[in-house]
Amino acid sequence: RDGGPPRLEPTKSRKSPWTRLLIVTLMGCGLVATGYRSSLFSSLFNDRGLRLLPEEDAIRDPLAEFGACAKRNLLETGLPFLKDVAPIDVPEFENRRDRLAQALVAEDVDAFVVEPGYTFKYYANVSQPEWEVWESESRQIPHSSALLFEAERARLLGMPFVDEIQIVPWEEHWNPYETLQTSDVFHQLDRRPRLMVDEEMRDFIQRGLGNAGFEITGLKGRVEEVRQIKTSKEVAILRAVNTGTVEAVRLYPGLTETQIANALDDALRAAGLDPFFDIVLFDENASNPHGGTNGSKVLEAETFVLIDVGAHLYGYSSDICRTFFPPFFPEPAQDQGTPSHIAEKLRVWDIVFEAQTMSIHQMRENSTAAMVDIAARDVISQAGYGEAFTHRVGHGIGIKAHESPYLNKGNTGAWLKTGMTFTSEPGIYLVDKFGVRHEDVLLVDSDNEPILLTGSRAESPWRP
Ligand SMILES: *[C@@H]1O[C@H](CO)[C@@H](O)[C@H](O)[C@H]1NC(C)=O
Ligand SMILES: *[C@@H]1O[C@H](CO)[C@@H](O)[C@H](O)[C@H]1NC(C)=O
Ligand SMILES: *[C@@H]1O[C@H](CO)[C@@H](O)[C@H](O)[C@H]1NC(C)=O
Ligand SMILES: *[C@@H]1O[C@H](CO)[C@@H](O)[C@H](O)[C@H]1NC(C)=O
Repeated sequence: RDGGPPRLEPTKSRKSPWTRLLIVTLMGCGLVATGYRSSLFSSLFNDRGLRLLPEEDAIRDPLAEFGACAKRNLLETGLPFLKDVAPIDVPEFENRRDRLAQALVAEDVDAFVVEPGYTFKYYANVSQPEWEVWESESRQIPHSSALLFEAERARLLGMPFVDEIQIVPWEEHWNPYETLQTSDVFHQLDRRPRLMVDEEMRDFIQRGLGNAGFEITGLKGRVEEVRQIKTSKEVAILRAVNTGTVEAVRLYPGLTETQIANALDDALRAAGLDPFFDIVLFDENASNPHGGTNGSKVLEAETFVLIDVGAHLYGYSSDICRTFFPPFFPEPAQDQGTPSHIAEKLRVWDIVFEAQTMSIHQMRENSTAAMVDIAARDVISQAGYGEAFTHRVGHGIGIKAHESPYLNKGNTGAWLKTGMTFTSEPGIYLVDKFGVRHEDVLLVDSDNEPILLTGSRAESPWRP
């Protein structure tokens, strides 16, 4: 965790192919095993050096040992990133509803229509699985509309509001949209009711509402900003989940891509985080930003490792990426000549880091989403790798790992505001060679440098 990578004698990993040492370390904790075909022995080492275990420990399953060690070490940190963080409470949900109401007034809209999903979770704590579509139209419409026989189930969802929720039920042979239109929800309006529909709304519901006489508009403006601009409670959760995810990755793996991903997931779960994606890619397999290979590539001494992982805490997402060398590959001394295939990896690592730095500088109130992407793109293009930066520089993040505004060079109409949270994740992907991506999460803070929500950025390929 500090003091740099563990040091192993290079000769230990240069035995015959049959006894090649397979070295796994997670969180300064490691496992050394003679290849799969010969008898196994294991040893644990920490940041300060190698420590051999007594002989009887050698017969244990190295993968299980590695996983247990990974968990133990993450828990032994005391999980400081989880301090001062709490789930979203009822007052916060009420506050969201009030901000939504103000935004609807500002946009001259009478109601917001949302189906169970991320936005419904944000406003009413009901996710898609919690209100599964058993009946195709038995969906919630705020102030809530539900099939008559589902009305009680809707009430039992325990949506987090102090005031009682009004449910507009309909019978199966009625038209639900007309039922809503003629309900007392809208009876005081002296115009055609205007509805704004969420981006996750299914098309047939929008058409049904339109046919029933509602005026329909898509998600935009102040209403979209309610979820984009985070409160301090949301920022606290985002900081906790992103910092914790970096801690778990930084402190390090081995074996195959899939085995590392599984051990990392288990370590995250042990810390109370709930991983929902985990991409571990070695060398040329990282030239596809999101992988796609089967996870069977084995970690070797000079493997360039890319890990991109996301977890949930209290419904909020982390999304971070680190690219680094295994800790048993020692950092070349300054005065040593670096072999050219290593030198290119180091150069690209630095270029992507500089691109990330420039995109972060641009993450200020009143920058456009496009400016943030272009700032990173300029660095990478000037270094001659423009074609190899194949995706946007980042995206909003919150209750959903990828949410608006999206930081791409065409998004010139979206302005950053204080309280918005974004990933910055430039990358360079060299087919048949390797890929590098650095990803951190940041909070826009007026005209200042944005606030880092991932603890600390990577320092080098040996200090991710
Ligand atoms: C929101 O829902 C989760 C379960 O999905 C629950 O644990 C939590 O207590 C709910 N929050 C509130 C404020 O009701
Ligand atoms: C991924 O790695 C495997 C094992 O080394 C290799 O066979 C495969 O070609 C790689 N895939 C890509 C897309 O580079
Ligand atoms: C994974 O892909 C590699 C080629 O890239 C192949 O050699 C290997 O057999 C595959 N493994 C599995 C488990 O499918
Ligand atoms: C951003 O622009 C708005 C509107 O022009 C202005 O009120 C605000 O002060 C600007 N913010 C900063 C940090 O310059």
